[in-house]
Amino acid sequence: MRLDVISIFPEYLAPLDLSLIGKARRDGLLDLHVHDLRDFAHDRHRTVDDSPYGGGAGMVMKAGPWSEAIDHVVTQGASALGEPAAVPTLVVPGPGGEPFTQQIARELADEPWLAFACGRYEGIDERVYEWAGERMPVRVLSLGDYVLNGGEVAVLAMVEAVARLLPGVIGNAESLVEESHEDGLLEYPVYTKPAEWDGRAVPEVLLGGNHRAIAAWRQEQRVQRTAARRPDLLPPAAAAAGLRELEER
Ligand code: ADE
Repeated sequence: MRLDVISIFPEYLAPLDLSLIGKARRDGLLDLHVHDLRDFAHDRHRTVDDSPYGGGAGMVMKAGPWSEAIDHVVTQGASALGEPAAVPTLVVPGPGGEPFTQQIARELADEPWLAFACGRYEGIDERVYEWAGERMPVRVLSLGDYVLNGGEVAVLAMVEAVARLLPGVIGNAESLVEESHEDGLLEYPVYTKPAEWDGRAVPEVLLGGNHRAIAAWRQEQRVQRTAARRPDLLPPAAAAAGLRELEER
């Protein structure tokens, strides 16, 4: 998979050299390119922002540097892929976007080429979204209902969530199946040695080797945990039943 990231803080993306994502790059599974938006500003101060039309606080990112940077990514990427007509899916992280979920991570993992545009300040001139949308698929995605200073941290999270789904990135592919959000329930609690720590015992059922009983216990834990922490993930009746069970304990 090819990934391009455009940012005014390219150094922010340095963690993508570490751990499993760094290894995936070295193994040739991920072809990641980071671009400095300021390289596409042409004045002495390499200006990428200006005050908002209509007034208001803060600054808005200018359309010109963004369209040039995206054009550059498209040209360079299409040539590297040997497909002159290829375009990436453009992902723009922002608090006003569609919620980024495991389902969206799976959809993005199926794409051959993603480009990420990291906005800062009060956002990017709206015309960039229109312009880009006429040339490539554009997805505005939010990490959650809170505000970050820019898209870089969101890109780190999204790239990790997507890249780990690519074949070969995670050594043990089974660990991808039994995870929170893969089937709509949160993960069950896990324990390791010692069997007693701080006066707290590991649940008896996990020590017995009865795999059927262990699977049933884990499933029950998943439902209870989901009802307690994320009732929004359960059908309403199941959420209510799970909560009743918790209250009765
Ligand atoms: N940029 C600023 N806030 C963000 C958020 N919540 N999600 C994604 N990108 C952002």
